[in-house]
Amino acid sequence: MMDVIFYNASQVVTVASGGRARSGAEMRDIGVIEDGAVAIKDGKFTYVGPSDGIDISDADRSINAFGKTLLPGLVDSHTHLVFAGAREEEFARRIAGATYAEIAASGGGINTTVKATRAASKIELIEYALHRLDSCLGFGATTVEIKSGYGLDFENEIKMLEVINELKDLHVVEIIPTFLGAHTIPFDYKERREEYLRLVLDEMLPEVASRGLAEYCDVFVEKGAFSLDEGREIFTKARDLGLKVRVHADQITPGGGSELAADMQAASADHLDNISDEGIARMKASGTVATLLPGVSLFLGEEYPDARRLIDAGLPVSVATDVNPGSCMSENMQLMMSLAALQMRMTMEEVITASTINAAAAVDRAATHGSIEEGKQADLLMFDTPNFQRILYHYGVNHLNTVVKHGNVVMEKRYANA
Ligand code: NIG
Ligand code: FE
Repeated sequence: MMDVIFYNASQVVTVASGGRARSGAEMRDIGVIEDGAVAIKDGKFTYVGPSDGIDISDADRSINAFGKTLLPGLVDSHTHLVFAGAREEEFARRIAGATYAEIAASGGGINTTVKATRAASKIELIEYALHRLDSCLGFGATTVEIKSGYGLDFENEIKMLEVINELKDLHVVEIIPTFLGAHTIPFDYKERREEYLRLVLDEMLPEVASRGLAEYCDVFVEKGAFSLDEGREIFTKARDLGLKVRVHADQITPGGGSELAADMQAASADHLDNISDEGIARMKASGTVATLLPGVSLFLGEEYPDARRLIDAGLPVSVATDVNPGSCMSENMQLMMSLAALQMRMTMEEVITASTINAAAAVDRAATHGSIEEGKQADLLMFDTPNFQRILYHYGVNHLNTVVKHGNVVMEKRYANA
C-alpha cells in the first residue's frame, strides 16, 4: 500500500539525472512524462511513470492531477532570510538613483541590517524567518540554504546560526545552514580589519565547527568586502575544521572569486556577473555549480549575468533567490525562474534543471533531492498548469497547488465553497 499516488498528471517533469548535476546541453533534457503518475511511500518515490502503469486503489490517498504539472520540490540554494529590520528607505534612495555600492559606502547596506539583527532577540528572528520560510514554501522551495552574516561579531553570528538551526525543528522546509561571518567588515571594526579577521578565523570558525552549527562556510569575495587572500585563508581554515565551501564571487567586479571557489572545491560559486574565462574553465574542472541570482539584477536594476555563456561553456548552472533585505527582497522562486528565461535567455528546460537538480547539487544533495526518481526523497510540487512552460510564461503569479515534503502533503490550495 502506497501513502500517496498522484495520477493523470498532464506532465510529470522528472529531471531524472542519476543523482548528479547536469551541465551544458544536458540541462535541456528534463524527462517529461505525459499523463504521468507518481507514487510515494515512507518519504520516498516508489513509482514514476505513465498513469496506466499503476493501480491507484493501492494507496491511502490518491490525488487526481488531471490538467496539472508535477515537478520536484525546488531548492533555493542561496538565501539570507534570517534578519531583522527592513530597508525601504534605502530602496527609495536607489529608486531615486543612488547605487547599492554608494549606499553601502555611506554606512548603509549590510551594516543597517547588522544593527537591527544584533538588537533583535532569537525569538524575534525566528518569528520573522518563519514567515519568510512560509513564503519560500508557498512558491515551491522545499529545501532552503540560509546564511548568517548579519551578526558580524562572535555573539551575534552564533545567535544567527542557533536561530537557523532551531528553524529546522519549527518549519517543514529543509534548511541548510551556512556561516557567513565574512560578509563585510562590520561598522564597529572599520578601523580594526585585522582584528575582525582574527575573530572570524580564531574564534567564530572553531565555535561553529565544534558545535556543528553550519554545513558551509561562505565569504563575500569582493572589493570593499574580503580580498582573495583573506577568502583563501578563511576557506582553508574552514575546510580544515570540516566545513564545506560556497562563495559570493565576481558579483560587482571580476575579482578572481570563481577561481578561488574552484581551488577550494566549492559546491557552488554564486552571482558570477563578472566571471572570467579562466574562472569558467576552473569551475568546470572542479565541478563547482554556477549559481545565478536574477532577482538581484532585477532589484538593483543591473545587467543580468550571462547564463548562456556559462551553459554553453559546459558549466552546471543553477538559479536561486538570494532573499535578503538589500539586494533581493523576494522569496519567489517562480519569479526567479521567469526572470532566468526572460532576462538571462535560458531555455525553459534549462531553467527547470537550474532550480531543481542543479540547485540540489549546489548544496551537495543531487543524490537525494532535486528530481523525481524512484528511491529519492519525495519532495514534490503540483502546479495548476497544464505544462511546465506555463509556470514561467504566465509570470508574476503563484501557480502552486500542492506541496509534498519528505512524503507528507504539507500544503494544499483550497477555496471556500461559494
Ligand atoms: O548576496 N553580496 C552580498 N550580500 C548580499 C546582500 C546583502 C545585503 O545587502 O544585506 C547579496 O547580494
Ligand atoms: Fe547573497
